[in-house]
Amino acid sequence: MIKINKFEMKKLLIIGGKGNGTLVLTVVENINKFHKEWEVLGFLNDREVDPIMGFPILGKVEPNVVNKYLKDPEVYFFYALISVKLNFNFLPKLESLKIPRTRFATLVDPSAVIANNVKIGYGTCISPLCCINSYSRIGDFVQIWSQVIIATGAILKNYSYVAANSYIGAYVEMSEGAYVGPSVSILEFVKMGKWSLAGMGSVVVKDVPEYTKVVGNPSRIIGEVK
Ligand SMILES: CC(C)(COP(=O)(O)OP(=O)(O)OC[C@H]1O[C@@H](n2cnc3c(N)ncnc32)[C@H](O)[C@@H]1OP(=O)(O)O)[C@@H](O)C(=O)NCCC(=O)NCCS
Repeated sequence: MIKINKFEMKKLLIIGGKGNGTLVLTVVENINKFHKEWEVLGFLNDREVDPIMGFPILGKVEPNVVNKYLKDPEVYFFYALISVKLNFNFLPKLESLKIPRTRFATLVDPSAVIANNVKIGYGTCISPLCCINSYSRIGDFVQIWSQVIIATGAILKNYSYVAANSYIGAYVEMSEGAYVGPSVSILEFVKMGKWSLAGMGSVVVKDVPEYTKVVGNPSRIIGEVK
């Protein structure tokens, strides 16, 4: 668990930009409305140079830039570069930064309703109006966007991703890196294989093999995740 210093705000660097990075920033701002927990230092981004929502770009996503901030134990990171286009290609970059897992922030929007026994890992963001039911387990570097419902006992392994307005049924297993687009429903007990992908609006009623892309209702295989 992240150590909370009651007297000082923790500092946060968001690795990313417009898109997932700004969604993360909104969650941080919502948290701060209730309890001043995070001081956002800015973003690390390879392409942007102009401030994003008033916060500066402090450098590129490179180890030498990260190392400067790692020296300050009060600085935490959020890695928001996960996306449907990148799929697992973001991993080498994340690993090259060599940031200890414990230095990644876990961000939960205050409007999310989360059962007491839910476990949530490092570097994970849970967005506004989500509902996560009992016995669910959410790993590290998981992004769950707005209005997602996760039913009892679901397992979302590391790097899995759930876009807005989706429903993850009871005891569903999302393996490492499994990606669910917006407004997807997954039937209970279904397993999404490693780095599999369900496109927007899919209704997934049976297991999806690893590295496989499905769409539609009921979902059908349209290809591989490359
Ligand atoms: C699935 C997805 C990734 C597209 O994958 P793709 O391999 O590029 O697929 P294509 O666009 O080449 O389409 C292949 C076929 O699937 C169909 N298809 C694609 N996405 C579909 C969807 N979501 N629902 C139904 N059918 C879909 C296409 O119409 C096409 O059908 P056809 O062969 O009969 O013409 C994309 O449609 C999607 O849903 N992305 C998720 C968006 C998202 O998550 N955004 C971020 C939110 S934070």
